[in-house]
Order: sequence, then structure tokens, then C-alpha cells
Amino acid sequence: MTALTLSTAGAATLRADALVVGVAKAAGPKGGLVVAPGAEAVDKAFGGKLAAVLETLGARGAEGEVTKAVSPSGLKAPFVLAVGLGTVPAADEAYGAEVLRTAAGNAARALHGLKKAAFALPIEAAEDIEAIGEGALLGAYAFTAYQDRGPDAKEPLAEVTLLGAKPRDKAHKAAVERSLALAEEMNRARDLINTPPNDLTPEAFAAVVSAAGKEHGLKVQVLDEKALEKGGFGGILGVGVGSENPPRLVKITYTHAKNAKHLALVGKGITYDSGGISLKPAGHNETMKCDMSGAAAVFAAVVAAARLGLEVNVTGWLALAENMPSGSATRPGDVLRMYSGKTVEVLNTDAEGRLVLADALWKASEEKPDAIVDVATLTGAMVLALGDHTFGIMANDDAFRTAIHEIAEESGEQSWPMPLPANLRKTMDSPTADLANMGVRMGGGLVAGLFLKEFVGEGITWAHLDIAGPAYNEGAPHGYTPKGGTGSSVRTLLRLAERTAAGDLG
Ligand code: BES
Ligand code: MN
Ligand code: ZN
Repeated sequence: MTALTLSTAGAATLRADALVVGVAKAAGPKGGLVVAPGAEAVDKAFGGKLAAVLETLGARGAEGEVTKAVSPSGLKAPFVLAVGLGTVPAADEAYGAEVLRTAAGNAARALHGLKKAAFALPIEAAEDIEAIGEGALLGAYAFTAYQDRGPDAKEPLAEVTLLGAKPRDKAHKAAVERSLALAEEMNRARDLINTPPNDLTPEAFAAVVSAAGKEHGLKVQVLDEKALEKGGFGGILGVGVGSENPPRLVKITYTHAKNAKHLALVGKGITYDSGGISLKPAGHNETMKCDMSGAAAVFAAVVAAARLGLEVNVTGWLALAENMPSGSATRPGDVLRMYSGKTVEVLNTDAEGRLVLADALWKASEEKPDAIVDVATLTGAMVLALGDHTFGIMANDDAFRTAIHEIAEESGEQSWPMPLPANLRKTMDSPTADLANMGVRMGGGLVAGLFLKEFVGEGITWAHLDIAGPAYNEGAPHGYTPKGGTGSSVRTLLRLAERTAAGDLG
């Protein structure tokens, strides 16, 4: 992992392979390029002409833009990398956290292959350090475990130093700690998502969680297929029964010594979703190793909360199974008896996520937590509705749904509140069982949410995040988001844990 440090050293004298500065577009019709605060010493080394030089090289200050300029003799770093910050904020406003996070991510990606970079970006408050740190560490991420790394292979930035921050300042130090805990756990979630499904079986995933539990002093309990059978987890078993790799239900618990609030997080962990007997057509299953992104996010959030010692109890439930077709697989038409006791007619074995989540939600409900949030790559319908950068939020409590939407926004994650229209529930009525695992196609993401709602314990505040769109980036990398697993929702979950600890959420 990339190291993150703070330094009071001058931008001119610090030894680094590159110096990162921010540039922005002046407000108003004339525009013009402006060097952002934090890079005064760099500008001075350019004789006050840094903006002019960069403008000649094509810089306009747009977000996403990166421009390189060779350093003059007064700077130790051989070159300057200017990242666009968009339009200069109004006099009484500062650059937004997400602007800084994205710019830092673009810088880290542009500097891939170098060892050490110094960032001279605008820092007004500790939150800016957090955003820049997060963006740099997330942007430096690369998944190379399965590639032959020859001697010429480029590695991610080894060290990022933030200038203009105070290493001895308590708030600044805490900001670094938080960005490290968050980004490292998010990058670990990305690794899990990117690991091919022949290696990341439910059993292997459970072993990773157990090892992390040991490392951080967290209690981890794993229910294997025998224990699941004994416990009557018909949903998880029904999904996993077609695979050679048996399912697991993993519980990871972080408890704070103080008698704090209890947040339960439930993650969909389908290590591979072939669709089962209702097999997905070619073109729809190449990326389905990403179907455990919800479980990876929950795992990351619990560990990050523990590393930061948050004053809250967080329980993570990872419902792990592989959805495969075989002679032993669940058939469309089979009826499963779920952990809650309800029976479900499986009309489509590709609607498997709701089956494993139903059991985990009911299990989580037994502990009567103050709130439950589940995270899942649940429906293609949500991708159609919101695209591939935005997750949908459904809940049995309007205030809770609104709170999560706001928390996501504050964390730099795009989300949108979605309804759970009661009229759609009856489309899951089954002539044979208590309900079917499928209803109407239109509004399929909401139908799935309504299914989950049936398995949340009476009186428990619950929200469901459908991250099918943003969990896995099939397009080009952008900002701090790489190709492949993104770590979607981890930032929202961690902030939710922090807000729960602070008692902000009722
Ligand atoms: N894992 C998929 C949903 C998905 C789609 C995730 C695209 C990521 C990207 C889920 O298990 C699924 O197959 N859902 C079906 C449900 C349908 C059969 C009711 C879907 O959305 O088509
Ligand atoms: Mn499926
Ligand atoms: Zn799935």
C-alpha cells in the first residue's frame, strides 16, 4: 500500500519524483488559468509564471485534466503535475472535498510507476487532508496479483506526502489515520472483488475474514454448510447447493467497550453468479465475480470502524455462496424454507441475491440492532434506472433513507432514494409458497427491495443499498476509481457508523 505522510517542508526543497499542484478556471466569462492555493512556492520557482506556462501547455483547469511541466532549477522535484480543480470557488467558499479527492486520484494515476510524490494542493481544513489522502491512496490502487511482473513493471506510487498540513496537529493526524484506514480497507475490498471466482470461493472469502479478524482483534464466526443445514438457512443453502464450493454465513463483530448503539450490516456475497439453472446468456456473466461486492464492502466497513475505534457496535453479516447450475442445483419451481420460516417458490434461480440476503437479514434481526443496512449488487434494473455511478437506496423508514442519502453525498458517493411501492408486493404472490422470488419486471429493483423487506424483523429500522451499477467499473478508470472493483458504499457505511457513534441518528 502507498504510504501517506504530512510535511511542513517547503514545496521547493522537498525531494520527490513529482510535485502535484492544483489549477482552476477563473470564474466569469473571461476565464483564465489560476494556480490554486498551496502551490505558492512552486509558482515562485517559475518566476510567478506557472499559470502562463501551464496554459501554454494546454491546461484549462477542467476537472480530470492533468498537465506536466518540467521544473525550473529552483525545484528539487524534476517535474510538476498540474491537476484541474474546475472553476475557482467564490471568495467565501473552498474547493469541495469531492473535487480534491478526484483531483488527487487523477494525480496518483498519472504518476503510476514513480516512487514519491509531494502534493501541494489547497488545504484549509482537516477534511481537505482526508479527501486528498483518500483520493491519492485510492487512485494509486492497482490489481496485479495475476500478472507476470517483469523487471520493467510499473508499480503504484510508494509514497505520498501532503504539504501544507501540520504533522503535529491532532485533527490533521486523525485525518491521515482515517484516510489510511478507509482507503486500505476499501482497496482490500477491491482486491477481493477483482480476485477471480475460481480462487475466491465462499470458503476462501471466509478464511480472509477470519485472518483479518485475528489481525484486528475482531470476533469472526463462520457457519459452514453443515451448520447452515442445522440452522435451517434454506435461502443460503438453496443458492449454494448447485456448486462444488459450499456456502458460508460469516459474522464479524466489532464491539466498543462502552454500551453503544448497534449497527448491523448485511452483504450479498455471491462469489460467482452464473444465474444457476436460469443461466445468464453469454455477455452477462463475464463480470459476475463482482457479485460479492456487497459482502466485501460490509467487511471493509467493519474493519475500518474497528481500526478507528469508533464508539459504536458494528456487526457484519456476509452471506456467501456460489450460484451454479448442476444436477444438484435448485430448479425454477423448487420451494425453499427460509431461515425465517417463510417458504419461497424459486421462479428464477438468477434472483439469488435476495434469497441469501433474506436469511442473513432475519439472522441479523434476531439481535435487535438499532438499524440494519444491507448492501448488494442486486438487480440489473437498478443499473438501468440509475446508471453505473449511482446506487439506489430503499428503506422502511423515510428519515433513515434520507439520512443515508445525505451521508453518501458527504462521503463523495452518488446515490438516489428509491421507493418501495406496496402495490408491487402482490406481484410476488405464489400459488404454492408464501411468496415467489420474482415479481413483475418493471421496477425490478423495487420488487427486490420489497422481497427483502419481508425478512426484516418487526420494528427494526432498515435500509437496502443496491450497488449493482457502481460496484464494478467496466469502463475507463477515472478520478480515484480504477477499472474493476470500486469499493462502492464503503465510505457511506463508515460514515454511517461514525454518525451512529456520534448519536446523530436518533
Ligand atoms: N447479480 C445480478 C444483478 C446484477 C446485474 C449485478 C448487473 C451487477 C450487474 C442478480 O443476481 C440478478 O441476476 N438479478 C436479476 C433478477 C431477475 C432475475 C429478477 C436481474 O436483475 O436480471
Ligand atoms: Mn443473479
Ligand atoms: Zn446476483
